[in-house]
Amino acid sequence: MPATKGLEGVVAATSAISSIVNSVLRYKGYNIDDLANYATFEEVVYLLWNDKLPNKEELAAFKKELASEYAIPNELIEQIKSYPLKNVHPMAILRTAVSALGLFDSEADDMSDEANKRKALRLQAKVPTIVAAFTRLRDGKEVVAPRQDLGVAANFLYMLFDREPNEVEVKAFDKALILHADHEFNASTFTARVAVGTLSDIYSGITAAICALKGPLHGGANERVMKMLSEIGSVDNVEAYINDKLEKKEKIMGFGHRVYKTGDPRAKHLKEMSRQLTQITGEPKWYEMSEKIEELVSSKKGLLPNVDFYSASVYHSLGIPHDIFTPVFAVSRVSGWLAHILEQYSDNRLIRPRAEYVGPEAREYVKLEDRN
Ligand code: ACO
Repeated sequence: MPATKGLEGVVAATSAISSIVNSVLRYKGYNIDDLANYATFEEVVYLLWNDKLPNKEELAAFKKELASEYAIPNELIEQIKSYPLKNVHPMAILRTAVSALGLFDSEADDMSDEANKRKALRLQAKVPTIVAAFTRLRDGKEVVAPRQDLGVAANFLYMLFDREPNEVEVKAFDKALILHADHEFNASTFTARVAVGTLSDIYSGITAAICALKGPLHGGANERVMKMLSEIGSVDNVEAYINDKLEKKEKIMGFGHRVYKTGDPRAKHLKEMSRQLTQITGEPKWYEMSEKIEELVSSKKGLLPNVDFYSASVYHSLGIPHDIFTPVFAVSRVSGWLAHILEQYSDNRLIRPRAEYVGPEAREYVKLEDRN
């Protein structure tokens, strides 16, 4: 059977978590547009891990449980301090820290459903704390302890900036978290499923997913979008910059998608958030430049922005350091990874495809002493 490069179009398994049909993204049947407009991130996480949206009592209990797990072990904080924080990419720190987190969980290798659900809750609660902690340590600041009275979005911004975020910031960040939460069999999610499909533990699955998210063709694109915007500097420079890139056949980060060919349904929400936030911060140029890039790349290449394009100016407007944009993606996507890991465990079969061999024909072995 001939191979399909990059597994394009291959349906690798069944899943009941998210669907992409005619460029409409749904989590458990709910249109992402409705969730982005009306839900909160915690509601979405509950939905991804259960078959329904929570009622008020269920949501309150879930938020409480999650918040009770925000704190990370002091030993982990001490360990993070020993990493060469200034010389490595934050995604490499996150990869190592999440793997290390598993060392402090006495249930790490307990494969019962109950233990896996408890570990899922811990990972969802602690990944934001890890990201905020290493960012502050890297910047020579003290770690800020989480606040259990705040939701995931507000608490993350609070731990990162050591100040309580305002309502606009929390709402915008919460929406960004909802939009990044899950996306069918994207590269990092599929990686997580392959890892746990061997019946390896949940920490291994999440660590593997972080490894895949790090790459510039996947989650790493959002940081590179901001780098591009910073290099361009002003709307007047956009045309020359983009033409030059296209002439050199270089990729424009934040454009194109393996599945969406008529537009990523998440991008319009992030675009509007970018427009609003850049006005509030008094830096509309980031939105204006992004819009101009969109116009040029779509007219010249027929490529449309993906989730990473406008999320760059959104995160920048929230004051988030550019090099942690991809770890921030993980703060949200860990919810989807965990949903997929639990789904994989619930009906597991080892994921082991075949390769189409294109190497040399069968050859006769020649002993070393007889070889030329
Ligand atoms: N800029 C310029 N040209 C592009 C871009 C881009 N961003 N994306 C695709 N193309 C071109 C390719 O060069 C190729 O052209 P060719 O046929 O003349 O060689 C054609 O469009 C098809 O592109 P592929 O890379 O083969 O498409 P594929 O489905 O393999 O890749 C991907 C999808 C990786 C997202 C690609 O569009 C890309 O590299 N985009 C930039 C990185 C990015 O934004 N990644 C984030 C994706 S969303 C996410 O993971 C969260």
